[in-house]
Amino acid sequence: MTIRSLLSILADGKFHSGRELGEEIGISRSAIWKHIRRLEEGGLEIYSVKGRGYRVPGGLELLDVDRVVAGLLPSVASDIDDINLRLTIPSTNEFAMKECQIEDCHGRLYMAEQQTAGRGRRGRTWVSPFARNLYFSLVWRFEQGAAALEGLSLLVGLSIVKALEKQGISGVELKWPNDLLYRGQKLAGILLEVNGEASGQCQVVIGVGINVEMPRDQADSIDQPWIDLKTIAGKVLNRNHLLAEILNELVQGLRDFERNGFIGLVDEWQSYHAMQEQVIVLQVGGKLIEGVCQGVDSSGALLLETAAGVQAFHGGEVSIQRPL
Ligand code: BTN
Repeated sequence: MTIRSLLSILADGKFHSGRELGEEIGISRSAIWKHIRRLEEGGLEIYSVKGRGYRVPGGLELLDVDRVVAGLLPSVASDIDDINLRLTIPSTNEFAMKECQIEDCHGRLYMAEQQTAGRGRRGRTWVSPFARNLYFSLVWRFEQGAAALEGLSLLVGLSIVKALEKQGISGVELKWPNDLLYRGQKLAGILLEVNGEASGQCQVVIGVGINVEMPRDQADSIDQPWIDLKTIAGKVLNRNHLLAEILNELVQGLRDFERNGFIGLVDEWQSYHAMQEQVIVLQVGGKLIEGVCQGVDSSGALLLETAAGVQAFHGGEVSIQRPL
């Protein structure tokens, strides 16, 4: 609660002295200083000026469950069972996966201002500094089992691109299976984790990380070219509003996917495909396969025209890169 109170005072972007903050919250100045240090370590930029106090440049709009819910379409709000918001958590996906093992979490949303052990694909870390980006996981139950889920990660990427377009952000492309790129730089990532049976009912944790306003000093540890929405749009987008718009697209997309699968989305997905008709190299296990990328098939598999003809590649350990 103390940190929340501190953040809500600093949210106005103005200077507040340690004494003023301490008095308002009811703790000592040195306790304030310790909290400030912890927030800075978590990636929040705070100016500290002797004689004036502390200031968050540009101010802050914290994630707020009521504001997210206010932006949901009524039909989507009825499908979101519960929203779990944390200031800091190791990983929203990890937390959601644990809860899924205990109970049915269908429609539950987990979101956090900061992740201390954000999970990326293939064992990577997802850099998740405090209160500047979006990190969330939505749990969805599927009756047909994990085997019927091919194409789901493509649907998730497509839903986010469409939500961004509604916010006036165009030019975002999809890289198979589910990266969001802008001019070849990574804007957002999706990590699906499945709990349950390959053939029976399962719960899928749909984890999404979007770079909204990545602090430059935090970005040093990102091991690939990246970009954030602030750079693309030239302004900071309201995260509560953006999250609601994404959920509106995503939940409607999931319902449609439950009924019809990926088949009706092939053309739309390909219209955003970053590598359509390009020569690419696909890494499957230890093997490199070069070919012309022909998009995806009705199950969401990647189609590659190789010397041996057009071949379909499914998820798993496939990675993709432009030819050297
Ligand atoms: C990728 O490597 O492209 C996938 C990144 C997925 C990151 C998101 S952030 C919210 C959710 N929780 C996690 O720990 N990871 C996902």
